[in-house]
Amino acid sequence: MDYDERQYRVYAQARALPETTIAGWMSAFARHAPPARPLTVLDLGSGTGRFTPALAATFGGPVYGVEPSGRMREVAEDHAADPAVTYLDGSAEAIPLPDAGCDLVLMFLVLHHVRDQAAAAAEVARVLRPGGRVLIRSAFPERLPELLRYDYFPGARTVDEQVFPRMDHTIDLFTGAGLRFVELDEVQQEIAGSLSEYADRLRLRGSSTFERLTEEEIAAGFAALDAAVAAESRPRPVIEDSDILVFERRAE
Ligand SMILES: C[S@@+](CC[C@H](N)C(=O)[O-])C[C@H]1O[C@@H](n2cnc3c(N)ncnc32)[C@H](O)[C@@H]1O
Repeated sequence: MDYDERQYRVYAQARALPETTIAGWMSAFARHAPPARPLTVLDLGSGTGRFTPALAATFGGPVYGVEPSGRMREVAEDHAADPAVTYLDGSAEAIPLPDAGCDLVLMFLVLHHVRDQAAAAAEVARVLRPGGRVLIRSAFPERLPELLRYDYFPGARTVDEQVFPRMDHTIDLFTGAGLRFVELDEVQQEIAGSLSEYADRLRLRGSSTFERLTEEEIAAGFAALDAAVAAESRPRPVIEDSDILVFERRAE
């Protein structure tokens, strides 16, 4: 998936989250972060900077947004600038930060894009301080949530089953890099205020899953979704379940 090609143009708008949802994510991250403040935070695969300013506000910073796509980084620099945030060219396999300097690493829907996941786990372990934690927000094929989009785009479930790494594999990756597995947390968040808002955002196709569906599947899905939107008499929020895996570098 090359985010420099198309996704950078639509991602920020298509994947924007309500303020309350960002706040909900920050509370979830804070539940698992080391207790001291301020914390040095690495948002690894920071994309358009959807979370970086809020991470700075929540944890104090400095916050580093490491992102391989130059165009995603440009959007972040334009729209998610913050004095406590520095965006850096780099990748999970080659993090441009020194050893043992980060208290918290976030990988939010990034791991499935990483080619060399073992190298990434080793790099995360390297940049974490003793007692520091990494939060992996991902989906896992053996326990995919009931996402609303699967109702309209059934092929999306098959794609997700194929592209996301399994949970046991993910746990092996990070424990294999010397980290301790702490826990799995399940987080429920509102992602749109109504079906109509949900459809508008989905139509921007700001998800790599859409790149793997046929145009016929996409057209059929939107026809069914539009019919549901037309029948929506009272706006109801769209809620999604998400998983976070938490790992820690043992204190020395
Ligand atoms: C689904 S987006 C998530 C962006 C951001 N974390 C968010 O939640 O808004 C995936 C991001 O991972 C980045 N990415 C792809 N390969 C990567 C790698 N090897 N290391 C770090 N980031 C990578 C992509 O460029 C893209 O910005």
